[in-house]
Amino acid sequence: MLHLNLNKEVLFGSVTVGVVFVTGYLFGKKEVPRMSISKSHTAGQNNPLMQYVLNHSLREHPVLKKLRLRTMEDPRNIMMVACEQSQFMANLAKLIQAKKAIEIGVYTGYNTLNVALALPEDGVVVACDISEEFTNIAKPFWKEAGVEQKIDLRIQPALKTLDDLLSSGQAETFDFVFIDADKSNYDNYYEKSLQLLRKGGIIAIDNVLWGGQVLNPSPGDADTVAIDKLNKKLHRDLRVTLSMLTVGDGLTLAVKL
Ligand SMILES: C[S@@+](CC[C@H](N)C(=O)[O-])C[C@H]1O[C@@H](n2cnc3c(N)ncnc32)[C@H](O)[C@@H]1O
Ligand SMILES: *[C@@H]1O[C@H](CO)[C@@H](O)[C@H](O)[C@H]1NC(C)=O
Repeated sequence: MLHLNLNKEVLFGSVTVGVVFVTGYLFGKKEVPRMSISKSHTAGQNNPLMQYVLNHSLREHPVLKKLRLRTMEDPRNIMMVACEQSQFMANLAKLIQAKKAIEIGVYTGYNTLNVALALPEDGVVVACDISEEFTNIAKPFWKEAGVEQKIDLRIQPALKTLDDLLSSGQAETFDFVFIDADKSNYDNYYEKSLQLLRKGGIIAIDNVLWGGQVLNPSPGDADTVAIDKLNKKLHRDLRVTLSMLTVGDGLTLAVKL
């Protein structure tokens, strides 16, 4: 069953938590105006054109919707992937007939669930996170959606999991990777993902605009510096074809040649 009209929950549900948290979490003490298109469930909720996009394109599985609403109750919900971005990535996974995917940074498991739903019955998402607290929120929803058997959750630093996959002989076997964890490791995640990916596989990298801060990275801000550095490196990286999209907080797609 599809939910074509976006409920008020996504538009208004996180006004109190979301907006307050944008300043607190993303920008720290600095007052930096948010310059990217914005996620649908945070600043984007006040944007009528964003609402139009959601009203006319979001087809959220009922369990995805439940999980989104549950996530909006969490004070760190700014971390959740934008739902329209997640649907786009699930479409991409379908398009390339992905069977093996990796989620680097799971949080409450919204995108993991979306990708798992897009994979065939024998597909797998290796889900990487260090937080039992966050991923325990995800589990009952994965089960309810009937895809828990497709999700291989590994609670340890994602770099360790990627190394484990490489040393168990799984290089060049993955179709899709979503990088969405600690920013200082982004380049490491990218390099290891590239090894794990088959030719034609896709690496999607989230937060590449980082609320607009990439325009003016302050040297002391390690996260912004790491993101900007990777953006510059990818622009020159001839191992992949490249797109940088202004969906959500900025999404880079790198396709392995
Ligand atoms: C932005 S959230 C992920 C959002 C998620 N992709 C979604 O669909 O909503 C980032 C997550 O990365 C996790 N994380 C932070 N450092 C990590 C690390 N070194 N290894 C694995 N996960 C990490 C955090 O616990 C958090 O859950
Ligand atoms: C989107 O849908 C909601 C709920 O049906 C409606 O209240 C709102 O006016 C719609 N907005 C746009 C721009 O389509």
